[in-house]
Amino acid sequence: MIETPAGLPVILSVVGARPNFMKIAPIQRALAADPRLHGCLVHTGQHYDEAMSDSFFADLGIAPPDVNLAVGSASHAVQTADIMRRFEPVLDEVKPACVLVVGDVNSTLAAALVAAKKDVPVVHVEAGLRSYDRSMPEEINRVLTDQIADLLFTTERRALDNLTREGIGADKVHFVGNVMIDTLKANLARAVPARETIAALDGTGRLAGDGRGFAVLTLHRPSNVDDPEDLRALMATLIEVAGRLPIVFPAHPRTRGRIAEAGLEPELARSGVLMTSPVPYPAMLGLLAEANAVLTDSGGIQEETTALGVPCFTLRTSTERPITVEEGTNTMVGTDRGRILAGVDDLLATGGKAGRVPELWDGQAAGRIVRVLADSFAGSRTPAA
Ligand code: UD1
Repeated sequence: MIETPAGLPVILSVVGARPNFMKIAPIQRALAADPRLHGCLVHTGQHYDEAMSDSFFADLGIAPPDVNLAVGSASHAVQTADIMRRFEPVLDEVKPACVLVVGDVNSTLAAALVAAKKDVPVVHVEAGLRSYDRSMPEEINRVLTDQIADLLFTTERRALDNLTREGIGADKVHFVGNVMIDTLKANLARAVPARETIAALDGTGRLAGDGRGFAVLTLHRPSNVDDPEDLRALMATLIEVAGRLPIVFPAHPRTRGRIAEAGLEPELARSGVLMTSPVPYPAMLGLLAEANAVLTDSGGIQEETTALGVPCFTLRTSTERPITVEEGTNTMVGTDRGRILAGVDDLLATGGKAGRVPELWDGQAAGRIVRVLADSFAGSRTPAA
């Protein structure tokens, strides 16, 4: 039984995977501060362990979810279907004014689909980003979620062009800035100093006190880690990079599994790449903020490095976040050895790419979102027709 205060419209937010948690934290806080609305939170359980989920709720001060659907890991079809089946009765019980989803993970699309078919308005935060690469599962999730959304909040102006091309009316779209950067700004003062994190992680002392600075690496895209040959080639290049600039590598569980399957662990252990478990948000923020460079295939980290002014090399050939390249510190290098090493050599010679922080990435995005939600839904208790 989910308790909701009588008379107040309920904004039912849904999260599932790690990058969702940074995005929902400021929205839940802003909802809690607005007397016209009531926020409820559903966790699908797509990510479920301490390192990928629980630590983020604790560190970001997100109240425990009202419901956890506990779907866990599975194929895309099974995971999406399980979320849909388990979310439907929650929606029936709560009867929210809208369902709010963030980002582009399977939980985002699954919850949006259930709501749209039940005539419950769908709100999509971080709408309109497009890589134009349909081999990415996230791209499918983005396109479909935006098609069925009633209110779309964007992080960069260009997103509206993408949505317009897909026939989505500009009247539904609000450019509000970036909630992930709200969380970054709110937590920067609490970031764990990088030297503390490295000292704690680096049992062998390979990196501690090296004095050369360091890079941070993250890697989890299926296109980079699922094929053992491609993964071997990429890791060989990254080990070369680490010969020039030591690398701290908090590895996603799927990546760690693929590295073990490819037999790469002994080689990594001898190299300048320090592979560790995923780290909590305040430790990651400290690592990112103090790194000389970041190498990543994550979407969110492209944005975080731009906000922090830290050079980022994105190990992909496309990005759904072009503003991080055009205005920020991001350079697309793909997985080509020559381009990666040339980028790192340039960084070591010049300090790397400088940039500016994009418009409205000012820490206030969640407040803007909740003002629009109040204008749209305050006064309604039942779903709009
Ligand atoms: C998902 C998202 C991706 C996001 C990423 C962030 C989709 C399509 N993908 O990918 O967009 O960037 O999360 O991390 O939604 N695992 C654990 N513990 C957990 C969760 C997962 O060990 O708490 C392991 C399991 O072995 C699982 C694997 O990680 O099979 C992959 O997890 P999954 O959620 O299926 O996809 P991600 O690669 O994490």
